[in-house]
Order: sequence, then structure tokens, then C-alpha cells
Amino acid sequence: MHSRERSLLLNSNNRNSLETERFLEILEVKSKKIMKHGFIGFGNLTRAVYHGLKEEKGMTFAYFARNRKEVDILFCEQINDLVSFADVIWLGIKPQDLNGILEQLKECNLDGKTIVSPVAGKSIAYIEQYLGKNQLIVRIMPNLAMAYRKSVTAFTTNRPGNKKAREFFALLGKLGKAVELEESGFNLFTSVFGSGPAFILAFIQIFKDKMQEFNLPGPLIDELLLELTQGTTLYFAQNQKNYSIEELIRNITSKGGTTQAGLEYFRDHQIGKHFEGVLDAARNRSEEMSRNGR
Ligand SMILES: NC(=O)c1ccc[n+]([C@@H]2O[C@H](COP(=O)([O-])OP(=O)(O)OC[C@H]3O[C@@H](n4cnc5c(N)ncnc54)[C@H](OP(=O)(O)O)[C@@H]3O)[C@@H](O)[C@H]2O)c1
Repeated sequence: MHSRERSLLLNSNNRNSLETERFLEILEVKSKKIMKHGFIGFGNLTRAVYHGLKEEKGMTFAYFARNRKEVDILFCEQINDLVSFADVIWLGIKPQDLNGILEQLKECNLDGKTIVSPVAGKSIAYIEQYLGKNQLIVRIMPNLAMAYRKSVTAFTTNRPGNKKAREFFALLGKLGKAVELEESGFNLFTSVFGSGPAFILAFIQIFKDKMQEFNLPGPLIDELLLELTQGTTLYFAQNQKNYSIEELIRNITSKGGTTQAGLEYFRDHQIGKHFEGVLDAARNRSEEMSRNGR
């Protein structure tokens, strides 16, 4: 164990014996390559990352947040302890809390660390203002489906050929589909894939509201709608290589039938155009956040 890590361990008064044991266990495993993830903030997103990765071999985890959480991983009371522990440091805080955290991070020794930012609307250049251009920074835009290894995640970095950046990109592949993207594309990507799950659910909510006419219990309606979406997703998944989305819609549409009537309304009332407005609003907000920092 490095002497700095050992002294950190000994100096930490508030750590209980179970945590100390865990900390030792983590630090002693030196024989094989371990990726140590440190989460700054343990909210919706970093929890999803943790759930997606916890069964992976060769990973250990710790977090730093304002309050301790009910989770069986190491809690660091000081940001410095987390930085000493981790190779990969996840910025799991809200955009408005980012500069406060970066102010603290710039006082830490970040040599050899990978800084990962999923923070919406915050550029690599913004983070470099605090941590410097030599710091390896990876910017990603994931979604909460990371927990089920089904996120669609955009990736970019300030050091494209860097080995650690490549390793991190490979890791994202375990959490769903990862795609390298120019940073200028992040605002639109955020609206489609970051906020996308909420928009799709909002669509499902419209179906649910309509189903109130059946007078069925709410949980049953949710189950039925879940089956509908899973069936639709499966249909899409099974046929997506050979058919376009338009063709898949056409396959469900009989001439003069109910689906056709609904789709005509959809087109006549430009529902698609309106829905595009939802995506544009999210993209505009992301652009605005990039500009003014909130
Ligand atoms: N949620 C998503 O679907 C999603 C998708 C893509 C990207 N993102 C990005 O991911 C980031 C995190 O989002 P989230 O939804 O996970 O947020 P969240 O649930 O609100 O979690 C934020 C976390 O930050 C911690 N925190 C705030 N200020 C802190 C400070 N000064 N020191 C230490 N910890 C602090 C909070 O700690 P306490 O709990 O102790 O207060 C909390 O655990 C955001 O920047 C967002 O843009 C989120």
C-alpha cells in the first residue's frame, strides 16, 4: 500500500472498523489491475453507474457527497480521500454545483487520474479552466439506463489518443452503446439521449391518461403499457437491420384501418413537428447552460 494511502487511512477518525477493513481490502489488491471509481456526488446518475458496474470484475468504488448514503461502498468524508483512492473520478453533481467542486479538486493531486464529466452543458474547456489543459478529461452524456447496461452514451476527450481515455471508452461499452462525438454535438445528443427516457415516458403517460376510461387500477395500467413498450421494442429490435422505421409502421397499418386513421391525424396535425419542438427546447436549454454556466 502507498504510504499516502496508509496515512490517510490512519488519519481518518470517523471511519468505522468495517469500512477500515473494506478500505484495506481495496488497497491491498495490487496483484491484478483494478479500476478504482470515485464518485463525487452519489445521486441518480452515479448510482446508475455503480449498479451497472458493480458486478464487473476488477472494479472498486467509493463516493464523496454531502451526506452518507445507504450503500455498501466506501464513503469518503473529504474530497482529498476520494481523489487519493480513485483512478477514475466521476463528477456526479448538478451543473450549478460544478464550479464549487472544481475549486476543491484543483487543490488536489490529480496526477494520473481520469476526470469524467457527465455534467450537462459544461464543456471540457470549462473544466480545464480549473484543472488545466494537461489533465485528462473525458466528457460523456449518458442516461439512467446505465444501471441496466442499456445507456446510449456520447464520449469525447481532450486527449483522444490517450490509453486511459481509450480504456474508459471501452468501459462505456459495458454500460450500453457508446459513441464518439464532437463536443459541438453534445447539446442535441443530451436532448435526445440524456433527456430521451423522460420524453418517451411522457408519451407513455399520455396513453395512461387515456386509459383512465377503462377504470382499471393504476398499477395494472402501468403493467399493460410496459408490455406494450417491451413488445414494440422487441419488434423494432428483431427487424431493425432489415427494415426502416417507416416500413415497420407500415407493417402495422392496414389500409383504411384504425392505425391509419390515427397516423393521418398524427400527420395532419403535425404532431411530429410539435414533438421536435420538445427536443429543440431541451437542446436550447443545454446550449444556454453551456453559455451562462447554469
Ligand atoms: N440524471 C440523469 O438522468 C442524467 C443524465 C445525464 C447526465 N446527468 C448529469 O449528471 C449529473 C448528476 O445528476 P443527478 O441526476 O445524478 O443529480 P442528483 O441526483 O441531484 O445528485 C447530485 C449529487 O451531488 C451531490 N452534491 C451536490 N453538491 C455537492 C457538494 N458540494 N459536495 C459533494 N457532493 C455534492 C449530492 O449529494 P447529497 O445527496 O449528499 O446532497 C448528490 O448526491 C448532472 O450534472 C447531470 O447533468 C444526469
